[in-house]
Amino acid sequence: MNEEEFFEVLKKHNQEHVIRQYELASDEKKAFLISQVANMNFEEIEELYSLTQSFRGFDNFNIEPINAQDAEALSEEEKNELIKIGEDIIKNKKVAIIMMAGGQGTRLGHYGPKGTFDFGLPNHKTIFETYVDQFKIAKEKYGVAVPWYIMTSRENNNSTVEFFKNNNYFGYEEGIKTFFSQSELPMLDEDGKLILDENGLIKEAANGHGGVFEALVKNGILQELQDSGIEWVFTCGVDNVLAPMVDPLLLGYSKKNNYMATSISCIKENPDEKVGMLCYKDGRPSVVEYTELTDDLRYAKKENGELLLSEAHIMMNLFNCDVILGISKEKLPYHVAHKKCNMMDREGNVHVPENPNAYKFETFIFDAFERLDKMGVLRYKREDCFAPIKNATGNDSPETARKLYLAKHGMN
Ligand code: UTP
Repeated sequence: MNEEEFFEVLKKHNQEHVIRQYELASDEKKAFLISQVANMNFEEIEELYSLTQSFRGFDNFNIEPINAQDAEALSEEEKNELIKIGEDIIKNKKVAIIMMAGGQGTRLGHYGPKGTFDFGLPNHKTIFETYVDQFKIAKEKYGVAVPWYIMTSRENNNSTVEFFKNNNYFGYEEGIKTFFSQSELPMLDEDGKLILDENGLIKEAANGHGGVFEALVKNGILQELQDSGIEWVFTCGVDNVLAPMVDPLLLGYSKKNNYMATSISCIKENPDEKVGMLCYKDGRPSVVEYTELTDDLRYAKKENGELLLSEAHIMMNLFNCDVILGISKEKLPYHVAHKKCNMMDREGNVHVPENPNAYKFETFIFDAFERLDKMGVLRYKREDCFAPIKNATGNDSPETARKLYLAKHGMN
């Protein structure tokens, strides 16, 4: 794109304020702004803005509960059979882990990638290092360095890679395969204008954890996995310090039941807990986000007194590689988040907002479930699998996660 085309596109789409900033910018920033605009799909951006003007409620859908297999309800014999199937998958090098670490971690407020956070264990291990511990135990047990792929964003990729390098990959270099970045989308202000950040560049942000499918394909990772005989990928967030990295029961359960995807769930703690709920939406597997749940559904109970929607989606999903290419080909729907974002005004002054002032657009991994006819849900005890670090204090904070982690590891 040349300068003339750059001006033309911005004028056509009512984004002239970027031109004003461009005129004040250094040559290097000018070139960067042009490359940003050249890569933008303005029709899509306009559609995204129109999303902010409407609320996607779930009132119009038929929401039904999804059945989960409670791991605790399996007999010893059943469990052993499934574990044996799963262990064969691991030993035959047919599973890889994809960790989604491209988020901004704004609620936690830690400077740097969330995985580099020390959540206060007596040994001061960071979140990433606790996962390395699990991989090392699995290697010892199965004789296989289970491959670990880490998805980052443009914002945190270099610092994530540096962190591992500086720590000699915590002794797991053979298993840490690749860091790959997900795509970004521009953030918009409340009038639908592109936001200029503190540096006078267009503010872009990672496109949500649903971006993992596209990123796997675009970066050639899916091909690499399939070429090396990997059949299953376990996708998880970076911030649940009890997430089981190498889980034979989950693998065996999926394979035995011919599920192309299985979600690990735990029972929702109370109706107001801020987690998405696994369900069927118009007959297809899905997740209702807590922000999208109507009060009727939030508090609805079954005859036995349990919550109607009880299976929390806790961001741990196993996919068969065969479904990933298909999922990546169709766009997942965008969700809008209203966030606080520093922005530069027309005079070049930077504003630090007190209230949300910007829209961020994200796709969610669980919207892919609707592409499947059926999926498995394997329920674990909460204290065995779920200790998220989301907030600086209170619920789901370093303090709560630390307690759960120490209890699980018999260290309290
Ligand atoms: P969250 O939705 O909790 O977001 O991500 P976050 O960015 O970590 O935290 P906040 O909302 O800014 O406070 C759940 C998981 O998905 C990953 C995160 O890194 C986390 O592991 N994620 C999220 C991505 O990999 N990419 C994204 O674009 C968003």
